[in-house]
Parts: sequence; C-alpha cells; structure tokens
Amino acid sequence: MMEHFITRKAHQDDVKAMHGLLLRCAQKGLLLPRALSYLYGHIRNFYVAESGNGELAACCALAPVWEDLGEICSLVVKDEHLRKGLGRRLVDACVSECRELHLKKIFALTYQETFFTRLGFSVVEKSVLPQKIWADCVNCPKYPDCDEIAVLLDVSASGGETRTLLPGLRE
Ligand SMILES: CC(C)(COP(=O)(O)OP(=O)(O)OC[C@H]1O[C@@H](n2cnc3c(N)ncnc32)[C@H](O)[C@@H]1OP(=O)(O)O)[C@@H](O)C(=O)NCCC(=O)NCCS
Repeated sequence: MMEHFITRKAHQDDVKAMHGLLLRCAQKGLLLPRALSYLYGHIRNFYVAESGNGELAACCALAPVWEDLGEICSLVVKDEHLRKGLGRRLVDACVSECRELHLKKIFALTYQETFFTRLGFSVVEKSVLPQKIWADCVNCPKYPDCDEIAVLLDVSASGGETRTLLPGLRE
C-alpha cells in the first residue's frame, strides 16, 4: 500500500523527536546536533514530514541569514524513509518560503552533493557566501578544516519547481 506523508510546519511538540533524529545523524558526522533550547527557540524555521501513523519521518529548517540569502539546515530523513521524496518535499517547502520572504538565493553546506544537484542546486566555492554564515561554523568540531561543500540555488530563476504540495497539504 502507498505510504502517505504530510509535509507541514513544525510544532513545539515535534521538538523531542526532531532532537533525537538530529542527534543520531550528528553522531554520524553528517550535520550539527541542535540543543532542545535551540529547537524550541527556532521552531518557526522548521518543516517536518509526518507519516500516516503520526511518526516524525524527516525535518528541515530554512534559516534566513542575510538580505537576500537563506540557508537549508538540519535536513534529515529517517533511515527507513530515505529515497521516498521526503528530502525533496522539505527543501521545496523551504524554497517556496524563500519566495514569500523575498530571499533570492538559498544555500546549504553538505556532503549530499547528488541530492542537491538533483534538486537544481549548483556547487559553489564557499568563499562566495557572506562571512555572516560562519557564525555556526566556529562552533563546529570540524572548524576550520571543513570538508563539506557549498550548494546554492537561485530561487528566482528556479521557477515553479515543486513536485510537492504546499506545506500542510496531503499528497
Ligand atoms: C540527503 C537526504 C536528506 C535525502 O533525503 P531523501 O528523502 O532520501 O531524498 P529524496 O528521496 O527526496 O531524493 C531526491 C533526489 O535526490 C536523489 N538522492 C537522494 N539521496 C541520494 C544519494 N544519497 N545519492 C544519490 N542521489 C540521491 C534521489 O534519487 C532523488 O532524485 P530524483 O528525484 O531525480 O530521482 C537524506 O539522505 C539524509 O537525511 N541524509 C543524512 C543527513 C544529511 O546529510 N542531511 C543533509 C545536510 S545539508
């Protein structure tokens, strides 16, 4: 039977599950862990994908960082739900919100080059990103020897990309 997922803005009562998901992924060195206090304070940045039985399957945040720039961060899909299109749906939701906020570009620092290029992002030199983004980086255990790549999407040029539904609607 076809699985159904809802993509929607996160709620405060998603935070404990988001925290566990991010922690397990951070232990593999794929992203930064986030403290509960950070997640409660930044809940408005987050989207989640929820399975039909109410389980949190994935999360992702859009963090506005500069006049015209947003960052995709804390993107993780639970192992058993990989390759079902949830990563794409969450990134699409962030891209749609960029348009609402008049953010012209969105970037991520990542090891997932193929995933992001499939979604239309291009690999760029980290030096093209404004210095403001390094605020998180100085607290990262890998700083200053970061081996992540930077990927960037011009939101205004990417048109109406979205195979996904608006956040909150059921597919
Ligand atoms: C990266 C990640 C979010 C992808 O999520 P996902 O739900 O499995 O990805 P999707 O199913 O939406 O895939 C979207 C596209 O990317 C491709 N893709 C996804 N993961 C891929 C991988 N590891 N290698 C190659 N291609 C990949 C899919 O084939 C699909 O392409 P298509 O639609 O053109 O056929 C997931 O692998 C993850 O949580 N990884 C660990 C955490 C992480 O690295 N997060 C990124 C931090 S910036």
